[in-house]
Amino acid sequence: MSAPKPVSNETLLQQLRWRYAVKRFDPTRKIAAEDWQTLEHALVLTPSSFGLQPWRFVVITDQTIKDQLVPISWGQRQVADASHVVVFTARKPLTESDVDRYVARTAEVRGVAAESLAGFKKMMMSSLVPPPSGVDIHHWAALQAYIALGNFMTSAAMLGIDTCPMEGIVPEKYDELLGLPREGLGTVVVAVAGYRAPDDKYAVLPKVRFKVEDVVHNIGPRL
Ligand SMILES: Cc1cc2nc3c(=O)[nH]c(=O)nc-3n(C[C@H](O)[C@H](O)[C@H](O)COP(=O)(O)O)c2cc1C
Repeated sequence: MSAPKPVSNETLLQQLRWRYAVKRFDPTRKIAAEDWQTLEHALVLTPSSFGLQPWRFVVITDQTIKDQLVPISWGQRQVADASHVVVFTARKPLTESDVDRYVARTAEVRGVAAESLAGFKKMMMSSLVPPPSGVDIHHWAALQAYIALGNFMTSAAMLGIDTCPMEGIVPEKYDELLGLPREGLGTVVVAVAGYRAPDDKYAVLPKVRFKVEDVVHNIGPRL
């Protein structure tokens, strides 16, 4: 007999249908500390290529800063009204020290000598620093940050917390406001989290998705 599932198929799909890109948040509702802690861990648990985690998640709850984000987010109010704003940033540029930091952390967590990971480091360096010709390494790091964005939205939905992913931002202005270049980071994308306003009309709009058979092509029998 197979082990019971941690969540049912119905619950998973129900929450993925429940979530939507919220346009109006209830500014009076804040995410509880224990829920936020869980979402922080969900961000940290995001997988990345090589495991390198070439990112930092900048979390903004300060209302003054959140208000300053509106004009640099195409006037979108979600950044001011949601409980938490997460700015997904990626290393810019990615350097050997980022690889070293990861190797050191691997050695610490796994209880091995950093020298024993020399081959692993060499393999990463040959693909990343300097990047092979034609590869934009910040773009590669940004792709990793998008995995965290997806993970964050799904995790939040499973806890009944609303989100809105946001590319409608001016990344350079975010960088400037948050002092990211001096930290070797660049803004990639934003997600806000909180609770939908009861009058957000987008909540009841049917989801527009292509049909399963139009986007999932099977090679071989459906098992
Ligand atoms: C990467 C990304 C960026 C987005 N940027 C914005 C944005 O700036 N503002 C906004 O209101 N919605 C934004 N959206 C929401 C999409 O329009 C929305 O996810 C899509 O229409 C599907 O609808 P649903 O998320 O409500 O199911 C973005 C979505 C993604 C995935």
